[in-house]
Amino acid sequence: MAKTQTTFFCKSCGASSAKWIGKCPSCGEWNTYIEEVVHKEKTDFKKTWKQTDRSAPLLKPVLLKEVEQGNEQRYPVKDIELARVLGGGVVPGSVVLIGGEPGIGKSTLMLQIALQFTDKKVLYISGEESDTQIKMRAERLPFRNEQCYLFTEVSTQRIGKALQELQPDIVIIDSIQTLQSELIDSTPGSISQIKETAGDMIRFAKETGTPVFLIGHITKDGSLAGPKLLEHMVDTVLQFEGDRHHVYRILRTTKNRFGSTSEIGIYEMQSGGLREVSNPSEILISQRDEALSGVAIAATIEGMRPLMIETQALVSTAVYGTPQRNSNGYDAKRLNMLLAVLEKKCGLRMGMQDVFINIAGGLRVEDPGIDLSIVAAIVSSYENIALDGKICFIGEVGLSGEVRAVSRIEQRISEAEKLGFKTIYLSKFNKLPSKQSSIKTIAVGKLDEMLQLLFG
Ligand code: TYD
Ligand code: MG
Repeated sequence: MAKTQTTFFCKSCGASSAKWIGKCPSCGEWNTYIEEVVHKEKTDFKKTWKQTDRSAPLLKPVLLKEVEQGNEQRYPVKDIELARVLGGGVVPGSVVLIGGEPGIGKSTLMLQIALQFTDKKVLYISGEESDTQIKMRAERLPFRNEQCYLFTEVSTQRIGKALQELQPDIVIIDSIQTLQSELIDSTPGSISQIKETAGDMIRFAKETGTPVFLIGHITKDGSLAGPKLLEHMVDTVLQFEGDRHHVYRILRTTKNRFGSTSEIGIYEMQSGGLREVSNPSEILISQRDEALSGVAIAATIEGMRPLMIETQALVSTAVYGTPQRNSNGYDAKRLNMLLAVLEKKCGLRMGMQDVFINIAGGLRVEDPGIDLSIVAAIVSSYENIALDGKICFIGEVGLSGEVRAVSRIEQRISEAEKLGFKTIYLSKFNKLPSKQSSIKTIAVGKLDEMLQLLFG
């Protein structure tokens, strides 16, 4: 019997080494090397579906100008949000990785996508759930596909055989961390297994022109479990995110070889699966009869989509020595910065106040243009003065209390106008669109100018 062989792998980039090293020479990360059992049986090679490698026709270099154009026929996708993030339909032979935290809805999303390809033969491979479990889930979804096959298997060799027999049009794998190559000894989910099995699936996709969707798990720190290398190997990386306790989910592109990475898709988790949200702004702003203090609306841009988002703040005197600062959906470091600016530049005594920030709907906003609205919410709560519900804000706040210009101002203003806002506060450094609009724009250069106008 062959001797058990172990190799050390870098968790971050997937580089390997015979012995443990503190700093990865390949990616420069510290303390990322872990030991794994690797045991390749070279003789088994012929038995596997990799033999197609050898029988495949030999490709020759071609002249760029002779490559035929426009033969990339995308498979149309019925799910509008998915089509948006993919930059159109599914490209044949492409490999799409969908990452997300446990329970966020990855399996639900992929199953309903599988069921929506009604004219395609779809193979849904699961190493996580049984056929009956998947069937139960499918029963709850409002879609039916007569040609959707299920296969509960984790071995890539056996999957390879099934793929050769069935010849599906689209393959979905739930999840890459459960796949196992019989050629490697280490456990499923280990770096060498992920590298090997993902490599197998990518080869299959490229050779046969079949699109493959891989579901991937996310580790605590928010990165895809497995080597970073996996993200380099696939064509498209989508992140499925949101708060598990809220109904909204965002599908974000972080890498796309066939489209832009600035698109997002928004879904709502319902009892009958995920529903596409086409009018997100209307839902994200809560309806209430009376104006409340500590609430301000921001005209943000997520991806390419303008979104009106409700920012909420609660400021109250700290009972214990050290005031608490807590932020949900907004960068906590940025919150501290805004509080320091308010203290130093606007004379607000924030030092002894607890400050809590929340973005409605469980969304996480990265657009720095939300700053102005956060400040408005904080001061509204601090002064206990409610803002008019027809006012919205857009602008980034700088360290010296200046209000900075933001991108795509035109789109933001027209979204605010569409939703019936009457006034928008923005930076005076933003060049305003020449188009006449019914919304009143108030341009400010400094934070205290705005606070003066709002709270006197
Ligand atoms: P799931 O797709 O299993 O998450 P993941 O594969 O990312 O781990 O879905 C998780 C949650 O979705 C689960 O808590 C139940 C909920 N859910 C619904 O609310 N409605 C539905 O129709 C389905 C199928 C699931
Ligand atoms: Mg799942």
